[in-house]
Amino acid sequence: MESIQAIKQRFGIIGNDQKLNRAIEKAIQVSPTDISVLVTGESGVGKESIPKIIHQLSHRKHGKYIAVNCGAIPEGTIDSELFGHEKGAFTGATATRSGYFEVADEGTIFLDEVGELPLTTQVRLLRVLENGEFIKVGSSKVQKTNVRIVAATNVNMFEAIKKEKFREDLYYRLSTVDINLPPLRDRKEDIHLLFRKFASDFALKYKMPTVKLTDDAVVLLLKYRWNGNIRQLRNVAEQVSVLEQNRTINGVTLQNYLPNNNNNLPAVVNNSKSESDFSSEREILYKVLFDMKSDLNDLKKLTMELMKKGSDTDVQKENEHLIQKIYGEEKDEEFEAAVEDLEVLSIPEHTHTDRSEETISSFEDKYDFAEEIEEEETLSLHDKELELIKKSLERHSGKRKLAAAELGISERTLYRKIKQFDL
Ligand SMILES: Nc1ncnc2c1ncn2[C@@H]1O[C@H](COP(=O)(O)OP(=O)(O)OP(=O)(O)O)[C@@H](O)[C@H]1O
Ligand SMILES: [Mg+2]
Repeated sequence: MESIQAIKQRFGIIGNDQKLNRAIEKAIQVSPTDISVLVTGESGVGKESIPKIIHQLSHRKHGKYIAVNCGAIPEGTIDSELFGHEKGAFTGATATRSGYFEVADEGTIFLDEVGELPLTTQVRLLRVLENGEFIKVGSSKVQKTNVRIVAATNVNMFEAIKKEKFREDLYYRLSTVDINLPPLRDRKEDIHLLFRKFASDFALKYKMPTVKLTDDAVVLLLKYRWNGNIRQLRNVAEQVSVLEQNRTINGVTLQNYLPNNNNNLPAVVNNSKSESDFSSEREILYKVLFDMKSDLNDLKKLTMELMKKGSDTDVQKENEHLIQKIYGEEKDEEFEAAVEDLEVLSIPEHTHTDRSEETISSFEDKYDFAEEIEEEETLSLHDKELELIKKSLERHSGKRKLAAAELGISERTLYRKIKQFDL
């Protein structure tokens, strides 16, 4: 059996924390079996390495490893993605298609964000877990598969069960073995080590001398909450490495890179919020895309009206609401509520459904939502937003109206953010 140290090296895992070691040890122990494993832990703690370790150390290592992000697949297509469909099962299903459970036969499926699975899909998954059986969408033929399932979640599954969003029987089936990864704030000994590793990686990548922290900067690093865990720490290390001329970083400088500067002592925070702050950068992109699409539709409608009626005063009067929405200062309630305190922007319910329908009708035999092994490199949502605002203001020499228009937000929202970020 490979040692924990060797596994860490092989999978690029840094740290000597006891709980981390225990998690890796558990992964090594369960790997030769077919036991289902649930990996739990906050966003950014490194859950994705665990299923890779389990797969690579198992007898399935020559089989397929498919990572599926359950949260990214629209509800309308998820059954078909996972279990396949028959030709004609729905509009656009022009050919029979195999799902991941068929393709990954003899291999491993990693169900990331498993808490996001719709209840109907949970029933199908339970059946696979119980006897390896599944049925393609639109078929009545029972098929067999031999897949090892590793799932991960950063949400509280007991809460989800209580709210009847997740089946209790499925939870127990999935979590035969539970591997928990500790949050970074509980791995004090590893924080500086990880920072040094990332700083040295980025120095190499950007061909610059490695940044070094002064003692007071290290103290700050250790007492910070790291809601985004290792992902956030890496982003901070990258930003500091790229942006700071002086390669010795003191506490005052480092403070600028840590969001909520005034509140970096350990504190009771709302868990669901802190998890989502860093788990859903994707969502801000969705929101921007959906908003753009909605604006485009509004613009199309206005143009059409203008073409039909010819008189722009009439059109203006009749479409005051639309004009306000596209160009004006109208308060975007949903947006503003969502960004309060640097929260994550969520996808409106109706757009999600729209998207599912579109996806069904343009369905192709592709594995859009799964990948075989992927590396993720993201700035935290907070940092991205800050960076976007800064750049836009620079581009427009501080002119808020132009920057707000470019960012697709109202001037008032921009003003609030300038104050909030202390720009
Ligand atoms: N121990 C570690 N050593 C080095 N890098 C790590 C370690 N743990 C995590 N990382 C890096 O941190 C980033 C986040 O890890 P990962 O994607 O596995 O988080 P996660 O727990 O799946 O988060 P989420 O719930 O948001 O999906 C990745 O880039 C990963 O390579
Ligand atoms: Mg993940």
